[in-house]
Amino acid sequence: MALSVVVLAAGKGTRMRSALPKVLHPVAHKPMVQHVIDTAQQLHPSTVHVIYGHGGDALKTALKGQAVNFVEQAEQLGTGHAVQQVVPHLGSDEKVLILYGDVPLTRLATLKTLLAAAEKTDLALLTVTLPDPNGYGRIVRSKQGAVSGIVEQKDANIAQLAITEVNTGMMVVHSASLKRWLANLQNNNAQGEFYLTDIVAMAAVEGVKIATSQPDEISEVEGANNRVQLAALERAYQLRQAEQLMISGATLMDPARVDVRGQVTVGSDVVIDANVIFEGRVELADGVVIESNCVLRNCKIGADSRVKSHSVIEGAELAAGCSVGPFARLRPGAVLEQGAAIGNFVEVKNTRMGPGAKASHLTYLGDAVVGAAANIGAGTITCNYDGANKHLTEIGAGAFIGSNSSLVAPVQIGDNATVGAGSTITKAVAAGELAVARGKQITISGWQRPVKKEQ
Ligand code: UD1
Ligand code: MG
Repeated sequence: MALSVVVLAAGKGTRMRSALPKVLHPVAHKPMVQHVIDTAQQLHPSTVHVIYGHGGDALKTALKGQAVNFVEQAEQLGTGHAVQQVVPHLGSDEKVLILYGDVPLTRLATLKTLLAAAEKTDLALLTVTLPDPNGYGRIVRSKQGAVSGIVEQKDANIAQLAITEVNTGMMVVHSASLKRWLANLQNNNAQGEFYLTDIVAMAAVEGVKIATSQPDEISEVEGANNRVQLAALERAYQLRQAEQLMISGATLMDPARVDVRGQVTVGSDVVIDANVIFEGRVELADGVVIESNCVLRNCKIGADSRVKSHSVIEGAELAAGCSVGPFARLRPGAVLEQGAAIGNFVEVKNTRMGPGAKASHLTYLGDAVVGAAANIGAGTITCNYDGANKHLTEIGAGAFIGSNSSLVAPVQIGDNATVGAGSTITKAVAAGELAVARGKQITISGWQRPVKKEQ
């Protein structure tokens, strides 16, 4: 049977105290509602409807280009009213999965279990038993255990308030029944709202068997109303990512001090020290070591390479056996071939380092190609920018660039050529030659230092 997903996202989120609509607040750099949509899309629904109210423009901009149908709920008259807005878009014989845009951590497996529970009946609820059910709608069951309704906190009597099984809000409803029940909703309750939860009692009265299923973890059904709860969701998400990395073969020195804001894949025997942040897509091959306090964004690190403390790597690709840092910065287009080494206070941008090439200290390499086993001395600068355009520096295999040299691009240093320390190189140096371009040292013998005049 076809599946439609409805994501409730019309709430204002006043307690966020933010210009940003609540559902756009991020968990791991991704809007909460995007987490919900991404999980929902994995169920291959025919449509994902997003019900919006406040901040519709911001929501449409954030979700631009995605296969979602936006449905406006101009006034927020309750969860039942919200789902009523989507009725014209629903078919007569499909399953409708209702999710909340501010509950981002629901697992795919949990939704699949809920859908399976709804296979033989018209209504299945995702419920959870909480030590403190305060604030939630309570699941009311008969003596025999059959669900007879949901009572909201504000409408509950003392006996009902003691119920610890609560409504997560997520449910699967058959579209024909949903339409019938929604048409009968009333708002004569404590909050004067049209409660979606009132359809449960209607189903029970009709004799519909109401199925329930539960998530594995409470964090899967938790929402964020304020930034304290948002931070708690972030931690829960990060712990999950950390566990996934460990199960995939990485040792984390402290699973509570790693942040994954994107997708990280790890080989076996990877070691990640404390306070490492991953963003975008990062691949770590077997045996990679990432020392403490590094940021890695959209990069690939080859087998047995080591990224030492306080390095920032973005848009770079490292082959096997490379070494970077401590305190190194690799920018987009940095490519390190096998065994290349980048040391402290070295910045590398759009530059290929050949196998075994080294720049060990205090260097800027921009728009350069460095041959195999070349050695770039401390303080070397590729002067790649003339104020208008960027130019290429080519350094041959086995070349040796003496310390504190400026290579004014475009310029070529041949294979096995040597540049004397302190040179400013503006012309090509042929293979095997030595170029020295600096003031000649003169020694003045017998020179006397000035002495202070008597006052
Ligand atoms: C709702 C449930 C309650 C459940 C709880 C779980 C109802 C009546 N109650 O209560 O049983 O235990 O969630 O968190 O459904 N929304 C709209 N339009 C509206 C109202 C709400 O889109 O007019 C959206 C909100 O943005 C939010 C979700 O629906 O994402 C839930 O709304 P909220 O007001 O938080 O409902 P609760 O009172 O918490
Ligand atoms: Mg709520």
